[in-house]
Amino acid sequence: MSSVIIVGAQWGDEGKGKITDLLARDADMVVRYQGGNNAGHTVVVGSDTFKLHLIPSGILYADKQCIIGNGVVIDPEVLLAELDSLRARGISVDNLRISERAHVIMPYHRVLDQLEEASREAKIGTTGRGIGPCYVDKVARTGIRIGELVEPELLKSRLQEILPAKNRLLRGVYQHEGFALEDILNTCLPLAERLKPLVGDTTALVNQAVAQGAKIIFEGAQGTLLDIDHGTYPFVTSSSASSGGAAIGAGVPVTKLNNVLGVAKAYCTRVGEGPFPTELKDALGERIRERGREFGTTTGRPRRCGWLDAVALKYSTEVNGLTGLALTLLDVLDGFETVKICVGYKYKGKVLERMPAQAHVLGECIPVYRELPGWPEGSTRQASCFDDLPVQAQDYIKFIEDFTGVPIVLVSVGPARNQTFQRAPIL
Ligand code: IMP
Repeated sequence: MSSVIIVGAQWGDEGKGKITDLLARDADMVVRYQGGNNAGHTVVVGSDTFKLHLIPSGILYADKQCIIGNGVVIDPEVLLAELDSLRARGISVDNLRISERAHVIMPYHRVLDQLEEASREAKIGTTGRGIGPCYVDKVARTGIRIGELVEPELLKSRLQEILPAKNRLLRGVYQHEGFALEDILNTCLPLAERLKPLVGDTTALVNQAVAQGAKIIFEGAQGTLLDIDHGTYPFVTSSSASSGGAAIGAGVPVTKLNNVLGVAKAYCTRVGEGPFPTELKDALGERIRERGREFGTTTGRPRRCGWLDAVALKYSTEVNGLTGLALTLLDVLDGFETVKICVGYKYKGKVLERMPAQAHVLGECIPVYRELPGWPEGSTRQASCFDDLPVQAQDYIKFIEDFTGVPIVLVSVGPARNQTFQRAPIL
């Protein structure tokens, strides 16, 4: 296999950044294909912690080509701040290229995101970064692409076309003062000038690499259950966070993609609103949150925590065509007397074996659990192979493999690069 799509198999925050960084050692190219700075990928290298929002996690290796693909939405200010902070820490960003087809998060997108969320009765709990409104404009064909941002005359004429309608919406519906064309240009043009040298036809770069048999990682953001089509709609993000998004968001034919690594935590978390059947609103949930340091990388919000939902994971396996799973944060379950896995949902007196499509149905589901012995005395943190794990942790892994039908090819037992072991080749 010469390429792999790394996809979140749950509600995001599964540790994709760490896994991408690890696999990037053997890769030639890392391509981010969707989402924006709603994502937060944490990579720990020695005593250094890097929090990346837009730049692919491969950037920490000087010799890897990193691509921000057309499917990503880019806030230029955030991207430049991220570039500056990496440079300040001695990380070269010379190998980064940005698709001219990627859409730009404009100042009015951020404002609209916050105003729309505030006016919603059923909150989504968006990150407020302008992600949704930017994707809305992309689909409505009123977006601005990076290729236009970096051409001052083009940007001006696009804004002249688009801005009046934005201001009508902002002023008429939300009583916001709106935006002046000159102000937006004054903000955007200096940013665009700095980004311009990095902008180009990344579709060509990625397809050349494919043709040359290069090893490529397609790095997803968020997770399958937040996918605009396959997630717990409407409590989702606005992009295709599942594996199908890689082809569209990088410009690579689906026929070239056949290796998909799903990243899943040994339990579940969710940030923001929406159904979460296995959520623990008690001391156990608190214990997972504390042990797993479950606070958002982007917003700092405490994450909702609960037991592993194997029904959801099986659904994720189906939607993504997972060829392997990476199980992360197994060490967080160290010390529990027993561990539970959701294997079905009780709904109106029936047991459902599949994840229902309707969020309100999922919201009423009561999990059916399989309780397995935990490893109260054992620790997984030092394990460097499967046999090093407490036998109960091994059984936990085998149970997930049997239930989903997917091999767990990589296990992570702590934040450091070396707190990981691989059980089968991935790239
Ligand atoms: P948005 O992507 O900001 O529009 O937020 C939509 C939903 O997706 C909210 O529930 C967010 O909390 C969630 N979300 C967005 N990005 C991430 C992420 O990277 N990890 C986890 N949840 C996310």
